[in-house]
Amino acid sequence: MLPFHLAANYLLYRLRAFKLHGVHSPFVFDLYQNVILHEGDYYAYQLIEDLRGSLLFKDRAIPVTDFGAGPKAGLKKNRKISYIARTSAKPAKYAQLLFRLVAHFQPNTIFDLGTSLGITTSYLAMGNKQAKLYTFEGCPSIAAEAKANFEKLGLQHMQQVIGNLDDTLALQLQQVERLDFVFFDGNHRYEPTMRYFEVCLSKHHEHSVFVVDDLYWSAEMKQAWQEIKQHPQVCQTVDLFYIGLVFFRKTQPKEHFTLLY
Ligand SMILES: C[S@@+](CC[C@H](N)C(=O)[O-])C[C@H]1O[C@@H](n2cnc3c(N)ncnc32)[C@H](O)[C@@H]1O
Repeated sequence: MLPFHLAANYLLYRLRAFKLHGVHSPFVFDLYQNVILHEGDYYAYQLIEDLRGSLLFKDRAIPVTDFGAGPKAGLKKNRKISYIARTSAKPAKYAQLLFRLVAHFQPNTIFDLGTSLGITTSYLAMGNKQAKLYTFEGCPSIAAEAKANFEKLGLQHMQQVIGNLDDTLALQLQQVERLDFVFFDGNHRYEPTMRYFEVCLSKHHEHSVFVVDDLYWSAEMKQAWQEIKQHPQVCQTVDLFYIGLVFFRKTQPKEHFTLLY
């Protein structure tokens, strides 16, 4: 069951959300009809969902380092892989949307903030096998599991960046010319979300796509999403409740869409 605040925000989202006929921007209409609502099946879906299925039965425990800001920060505790797969990875519906977004926009450089076991990373990687994909994870034992998962799927074109995003993100950013696609799923608090967003903005361009996860997960994330929408460099946003899409297309009117998904 959804926690009360999430359920209340979901109700408001449902009241605000448009369906296809309510979208007047040609760019967003096309994106909504052909990418967001696309119902076709892809070979990658089955491969990655089979992997997720096997992780959900792995009862082996690994030492997990907590990267939160609270009193547990830096603490290690053992967690079962099945538990991590169940609680951290994006559900198939949203991970597959990320695959379609990458397949549609064909970004050359992708930053994936928060690898966990690599489920969503694998979708991003399969969306464009030519892309340079950098996936960031703080916990070394989780990163090691993700590496094994990438090998199982035969995915070799991504680079794992292991360490606290507070240290690794800006450094890695210096190594790339520009950033075409970013998935923010690393630290669901206001301050780091806004800080990572600002850092990534330094390499964005007119056709970059940023995807922010868990917009209504907490009051802090809700505040971060409101500020991202109002940010002077942001031109269009699409609120799909669990994830938000951010565009920087100055040739299109500045608009914010809430779409049913
Ligand atoms: C919600 S999970 C990511 C799930 C993944 N995107 C998926 O859908 O399969 C968030 C991950 O980010 C990592 N993380 C959180 N804060 C971090 C930080 N400051 N630096 C590096 N990694 C961090 C956590 O260890 C965790 O594995």
